[in-house]
Amino acid sequence: MRRPVRTAALLCVAVTLALVVSGCGFLGIGDEPADLQVYSARHYDLEEAFADFTDETGITVEFLYGEDAGLLERLKSEGEQTPADLFMTVDAGYLWNAARQDELAAVDSPVLDEAVPADLRDPQGRWYGLALRARTVVYNPDAVDPAEFDPQDTYAGLTDPKWQGRLCMRDETASYTQSLVASLIDLRGREYASRVVQGWVDNGVEVMSNDILLLEAVDAGECDVAITNHYYLARELEADPDLNVEPYWASQEGAGTHVNISGAGIVKSSDSPKQARRLMEWLAADGQSDFVDANHEYPVNPDVEPEPLIAEWGEFDRMPVNAEAYGDLNAQAVDVLAEAGYR
Ligand SMILES: [Fe+2]
Repeated sequence: MRRPVRTAALLCVAVTLALVVSGCGFLGIGDEPADLQVYSARHYDLEEAFADFTDETGITVEFLYGEDAGLLERLKSEGEQTPADLFMTVDAGYLWNAARQDELAAVDSPVLDEAVPADLRDPQGRWYGLALRARTVVYNPDAVDPAEFDPQDTYAGLTDPKWQGRLCMRDETASYTQSLVASLIDLRGREYASRVVQGWVDNGVEVMSNDILLLEAVDAGECDVAITNHYYLARELEADPDLNVEPYWASQEGAGTHVNISGAGIVKSSDSPKQARRLMEWLAADGQSDFVDANHEYPVNPDVEPEPLIAEWGEFDRMPVNAEAYGDLNAQAVDVLAEAGYR
C-alpha cells in the first residue's frame, strides 16, 4: 500500500523539479512558484544566468526573443492578452518608449531603488537598467597609435581626414547606432550630430551588420578602427586571446564614453507582477553578477565588481544615460543618419 503513495509523492517532486508545479498544490507557498514570460531583446545566454533564480525561487522563466522595436510592437498589439510579464530591452530608449506608451507597470521596490543608480532607472519605477554596456572605439594596434584619437571628443574626432578609409561602424538600423547618434544630438545639438555623422561618411566609413563582423575586420586589418559594444570584444578575446584588437575609452577628457543599458520593466497586464518584481530584484542584486558576467557587461549595482576580463580594461568615465533623449530623439537620429547617406 505504501508504494503507490511514495510513487505519487516522488512523481510530484519530480514534476516540481521539472518546474511544472500545478497539481502539486501541497507544495505551493503563497503565489509561488509560477512561470514568467519574458519578451527579450537580450540574446546572450539568458537561460544559464536565470537557472540560479529558478533554483532559488522555483519560479521558471521563459523567453521570447526579438528586437527591441518588434517586441514593443508585439506588446502593444497583444494588449491585455499578452502572455508577457517582463519586457527586456538592450536600449534605454525603448524602455522609455514602452513606459511612455503605458505598457509598463510602476514598481515600488526599495531593493531596486538601492541597487540601480538614479540615471539608470525610471523616476516612476516603470523600468530599471540591469546591465551597463559601453559603446566605444576599438582599434588594431598594428595600424593605430592610440595617441591618434581625440581624447576630448573621440567620436567626433573620427571625422578627421586622417581616418579616411580606415573606419568601420555598425549599420543605421541598429538601435546601438541610433542611440549613439541620439546621445550626440542630446549632447551638443542636431547640427553637431549631423556634422559628425557626415564626417564619418565622408571618410568612407564601411558599415557592417553586426559588432562581431566589425571586430573580425579590425583583427584582420581590413579596418583600423571601429565602434562596438565592449562585451563583444570581451567575448571574442575569451575565444581568442591573441585577437589583435584593443579597446580605447572614448572621450575621457570630455563628455565620457557613450553607454547604454540593458534593462526591464514589468508589463502592465502581467498576471504575475509579484514574481516579476522578484525577478527584477534578483537581477539587480543577488543575481547581478550571474546576469552581467555571462555577457561581460558592467554591473549597474555599484556594490558589484565587474568580471576579471573587463575589469582589466580599467575604470572609465561614462556619459550619463538619458533614456528620454535616446527615446525621444530616436526619430531625429534616424533622420540624421539618412540625410548623411550613412548606410
Ligand atoms: Fe548586443
